[in-house]
Amino acid sequence: MLLGHEKVSFLHLPTPLDHLPAVSRDLGINLYVKRDDMTGLGTGGNKLRKLEYFLFAAQKAGATALVTVGGPQTNHGRLTAAVAAKYGLKCTIVAVGAYPGEISANILLDRMMGCEVYLVQPDGDASEAELEERAVRETFQKYESQGDVPYFIPMGGSNELGALGYYECAQEITAQAAEQKIDDARIITAVGSEGTYMGLFIGLKDTKSPVRLTGIAISPSHEPDAAARAKGYFDQCHDFYNLDWVAEKEDFEIINDYHWGAYNNPVKEVREAIYYLARKEAIILDPCYTGKAFYGLMQMVKTGAIKQGENIIFLHTGGTAGINGPIHRIPMEEDLKDGIIIKKPAK
Ligand SMILES: Cc1ncc(COP(=O)(O)O)c(C=O)c1O
Repeated sequence: MLLGHEKVSFLHLPTPLDHLPAVSRDLGINLYVKRDDMTGLGTGGNKLRKLEYFLFAAQKAGATALVTVGGPQTNHGRLTAAVAAKYGLKCTIVAVGAYPGEISANILLDRMMGCEVYLVQPDGDASEAELEERAVRETFQKYESQGDVPYFIPMGGSNELGALGYYECAQEITAQAAEQKIDDARIITAVGSEGTYMGLFIGLKDTKSPVRLTGIAISPSHEPDAAARAKGYFDQCHDFYNLDWVAEKEDFEIINDYHWGAYNNPVKEVREAIYYLARKEAIILDPCYTGKAFYGLMQMVKTGAIKQGENIIFLHTGGTAGINGPIHRIPMEEDLKDGIIIKKPAK
């Protein structure tokens, strides 16, 4: 029970907090990685912490199906599919966006786990929000007409309930940092729909943790004023959790400098940051979220926004399935093919 809300526990917790010696030496900081890519089901990732709370609420509502929304390659959708499979629920992901041309990456995993993917093609007429709303309504009607009880989970699992998963993670990180004697630590996390950031923010402040937090936006959706948007989300959580303290815009730190102008776009510099971490520490990031955040972290070391000697905890939020989607896999194949030596059979 957390702030009056129950969950179904299905994760491997605590996830490891590991020191990265080689990259720490290179960057002149003490870098740790919080392995929330190792949360368990469906190849893991941050959304599972949120889904523990949603599953409890869905079961309480008597649900027999989960319905969620996102981009065609949504990681959150894949993990919703994982939870549905594990707990015997039906599942549909509604996504507005072009068919990526092949069934791979998250979409392939969704189908493996028995989830239906409803890909709504933009018609240039109705807005994406309208198309999505219509498709969700249709999906609900379809389930209800066959006697099922659908339960809706918002994009990214990012509402007041979902953020509780990262309130809890904030407590976990605080305890691990104390155990490992990591003083004045700062978490760096990717920010998408913001539930991860907000859960951490509230969890850290509410428990008076010494750990600090910086978010790196992975798309322009947080512009022009990321702090104002965060304040709105915080206010919703404030009432829902009955917090006895308030936050102001200035308390939120979400950096908009490293999103490269779009959501889930292929970026050479981000790929290079991914190869760097893979080659130094055998940790695989994804190009949409963690790769952009890690690139941002390295730039922040260069600009001095992260100081030499600082203790940094990089939150690995998962998402590596995304490297197998053609938009990222094809440029990666191009980058990496020169190390593949094909020896012809000697005649
Ligand atoms: C791999 C990965 N990292 C980070 C995020 C960002 O989390 P949030 O949407 O809670 O900001 C997401 C969200 O989809 C994700 O899939």
